[in-house]
Amino acid sequence: MRDAPLDLHGDGPRRAFGHGKVILLGEHAVVYDQPALGAGLSLGVWAEAGDGTGELTASGWNLRARAGDGTAIGQAFAAILSRLEVDAAKVDVRLGGDLPTRAGLGSSAAIGIAVARAVAAVRGKDAGALALAAAADAEVVFHGTPSGIDLAAASSGQVGRFQKSVGWRPIAVLQPMTLCVGLSGVARDTRAQVDAVRRLRDRTPQVQAVIVAAGAVALAGESALERGDIDELGRLFDVAHGLLAALRVSSPELDTLVHLARGAGAIGAKLTGAGGGGAVIALAPGHERDVLAKWAAAGFKGFMAQIGSSRRDSSLDPVGIATPLPRALGVEAR
Ligand code: MEV
Repeated sequence: MRDAPLDLHGDGPRRAFGHGKVILLGEHAVVYDQPALGAGLSLGVWAEAGDGTGELTASGWNLRARAGDGTAIGQAFAAILSRLEVDAAKVDVRLGGDLPTRAGLGSSAAIGIAVARAVAAVRGKDAGALALAAAADAEVVFHGTPSGIDLAAASSGQVGRFQKSVGWRPIAVLQPMTLCVGLSGVARDTRAQVDAVRRLRDRTPQVQAVIVAAGAVALAGESALERGDIDELGRLFDVAHGLLAALRVSSPELDTLVHLARGAGAIGAKLTGAGGGGAVIALAPGHERDVLAKWAAAGFKGFMAQIGSSRRDSSLDPVGIATPLPRALGVEAR
């Protein structure tokens, strides 16, 4: 449902968008400066900014927060305004969108970049680098020590390789492909999963070899994308899922989704994002509907997403909100 227009003075509201993302290969390893591949989704979050009193609302999600009110979303909003040097008492932001939250699909980064771009635009500031820096401050509030890949993909919307020390580089994908995205229905907590991997690596130094292997798999995936070798990419998805399980970030639900996908004809499947809960991605050329049907029969929601093209995701379950947004953002619904 479309919200009523904001009651604004000055130039009027500015609307900006942040893409959801999937990590194709290299999540967690990317925190340790290994390369990783990400892809923006056409699902995402919009933000509309205008004159106001420091309120952030999402009427569709029953969310109402104030800059710096002590909630995660309020603190993130305050961080964005502070970086943009905008007086919190003078701006309001409204949010909406179609991205499942806490599903490993980059909802916090999508919110951060959409809010930062909308506020920057309405205040006549640089909606490029400065807005990106503001959204990065918000990601730190949400996740502690993010690598930056979620934000890079949320901002680009394309397929790219990300490395902390290098940044985001777009990849020329030879042929667009369809991904099946399956939602475990269990909320993921990126900060907790990243901390758990760090503890595992500190205690068991051999884990570093798993992290390096995940980076090498991501590089091999980049060349498979450039060659249009979907079979090889599928095999690499399977290897990556095994490595992520070795890092202990898979879960019974994620393993079930992966096995169901393979049983329905997928040539590769893996968890995507932080794990623990969240989502899986599967490559199943010609069998996408079989995969979605298998997942649905087992009670899991899913949708298809086009990667490497500008076509809109064809969502079989158009909303599929895995977790109510307010809870995902650390506030209660009002
Ligand atoms: C989360 O989408 C990706 C992780 O690698 C964390 C990060 O890169 O900040 C798990």
